[in-house]
Amino acid sequence: MKEYKKLLLSNKAWASERLELDPTYFDNLSKTQTPLFLWIGCADSRVPAEEITHADPGDIFVHRNVANMVVHTDINLLSVLQYAVEVLEVKHIIVCGHYNCGGVKAAMTNHDFGLINKWLRNIKEVYEKHYEDLHDIKDETARFNKLVELNVAEQIQNLAKTSIVQKAWGKRQFPHLHGWVFDIHKGEIKEVLNINAGEWKSPVFHYDF
Ligand code: CO
Repeated sequence: MKEYKKLLLSNKAWASERLELDPTYFDNLSKTQTPLFLWIGCADSRVPAEEITHADPGDIFVHRNVANMVVHTDINLLSVLQYAVEVLEVKHIIVCGHYNCGGVKAAMTNHDFGLINKWLRNIKEVYEKHYEDLHDIKDETARFNKLVELNVAEQIQNLAKTSIVQKAWGKRQFPHLHGWVFDIHKGEIKEVLNINAGEWKSPVFHYDF
């Protein structure tokens, strides 16, 4: 059987299962969405937001890219963020990285990956910023894990600098920002950095992006 056909068959099975449990399920689902969470995660197939948090359709607004980055020129990310914060008024924004992240791993090398070099550069800048601390870690896996964590913390701070988040904090006591790392060896999520609404100031003067 063609691989993709399995997905379509599974979809049919899933839809009928849902209807069996609740005949009004899709009628309700189609009406509106009021997710409490925006999830910014890695595109890695092993870190599906809803699956690892046991969430349902309608629970999480999701954006994923290579290595869960918040890049200030990324119009895709910024559009998702603006819609989530200003229209959906999500209460929490989660940046979820993961150990064994191929994007982070690639950024730790000097290999030429073609176009993706330009994306990896953003991660390399995180590496460079924390170079001294990272260099002190002799164990390669430990250093890799640390960069995954530092990268998530950095992206949380990038979020806090956006005019979208700053404006929201001027008006209300949310969204709260949460930096998480999914431990792919255990299946568990580790909290790396939490920032409550309004409780963050940039150490340097910055203009919002
Ligand atoms: Co990854």
